[in-house]
Amino acid sequence: MVDAAFDDIRQYVQDRTRLYFTGHKQGFLQNKLQQRVKALSLPGLPEYKEILLTSPSEESVLLDSITTNETCFFRNPRQFNYLRDHILPDIEAEKGTASFRRLAQGDHPGQLNDMRLRILSAGCSTGEEPYTVAMTVLEGLRYPRAWDIDIVAGDLSESCLEVARRGFYEAERLNGIPKKLLNKYLNNSADGATFNEDVRRLVKFMRLNLNDVMQGGWGDNILPTNSFDVVLCRNVMIYFSSSCQQQLVNSLYRIIAPGGYLFTGDAEPLHLFSHDFTPVREAGCLIYRKTGSNAHGQTV
Ligand SMILES: C[S@@+](CC[C@H](N)C(=O)[O-])C[C@H]1O[C@@H](n2cnc3c(N)ncnc32)[C@H](O)[C@@H]1O
Repeated sequence: MVDAAFDDIRQYVQDRTRLYFTGHKQGFLQNKLQQRVKALSLPGLPEYKEILLTSPSEESVLLDSITTNETCFFRNPRQFNYLRDHILPDIEAEKGTASFRRLAQGDHPGQLNDMRLRILSAGCSTGEEPYTVAMTVLEGLRYPRAWDIDIVAGDLSESCLEVARRGFYEAERLNGIPKKLLNKYLNNSADGATFNEDVRRLVKFMRLNLNDVMQGGWGDNILPTNSFDVVLCRNVMIYFSSSCQQQLVNSLYRIIAPGGYLFTGDAEPLHLFSHDFTPVREAGCLIYRKTGSNAHGQTV
C-alpha cells in the first residue's frame, strides 16, 4: 500500500531528476525515505515531504542516497583505447594542421583557438571516468601542452562531486590504472594516491542535472550547441524512462560538435532510439559519431 506522501515524493524526485522508482525500485526508495525520517526524528513521511520540498540541502542529501554511483577507472577499456589510438590522433591531425596553417599565414599564436579540445563526462560519479579521460588525453596527444583542454565532468550527486574534486583514491580503487600511468600521474601516500596537477588542471567538476540537459538547459544557462569533441554518457541513461532516454540522445547530439563522438554504456546501445549518429563499428564498442561539416567546411 503506497501512501499519498510517498507518491508525492516519488513524483517530485522524478520531476527533478527523471529517475523512476516503480516496480522493484519502489521498495528501495521507501527504505531510503524511512532512513531520512529516522535520521531527522520526524513522525512520518508527510512531515518529511514538507522539509524536502522547501530545503535544497535535504534534496541534495536524498538525491545522494538514491543515485547509483558504481564506477571504476578504465571502465570499458576498449573505448579508452580507441580514444587514445584513433580519435585523439585524428583530432590532433585535423585541428593541429589547421592551426599551423593559420600560423604560417601570419595569425598570432594566441588566436589558435582551433587547438581546443572539449570533452564532457556526463554522470561522472566519483571522478574515475573523467580522470581516466584526462590520463588518456595526455597519453594520446603528441603535444598535450599545445592544447587548450577542458574535460567537463558533471553529476547530480554533490557527495560524489566532493570525492571527485579531492582527486584522492584509496589503494583498492586504483586497480584499473596501469602501473605506468599510476607512476606518471598520481602521487602515492600510505593509504592511496592523489592525481597530480598535470591531470587535475584538465578536469572541471560541476553539478549537472541531465534533466536540465534533456530540456535544453545547462544549469542556469541554455544548452551549449556543437561544443564538445567527445561526450561520455555511460551507465546513466539506463536509469531513465525510454522517452527520457530519447530526449537525452537528442540533446547530446546537439551539444556534440560535427565530427565529434558519443560514448555510451554497454547496456545503452543507440539502435533503440531514433538518431543521426553514425556507429563507429571498427571501434568494437559503443562509440557513435556525429557526422556533418566541421568548422573548416570539411565533411566528417
Ligand atoms: C552508475 S554511475 C556511472 C558513472 C560513470 N559514468 C561510469 O560509467 O562509470 C551513474 C551516475 O549518474 C548520476 N546521475 C543519475 N541521474 C542523474 C541526473 N539526472 N543528472 C546527472 N547525473 C545523474 C549518478 O549520480 C551517478 O553518479
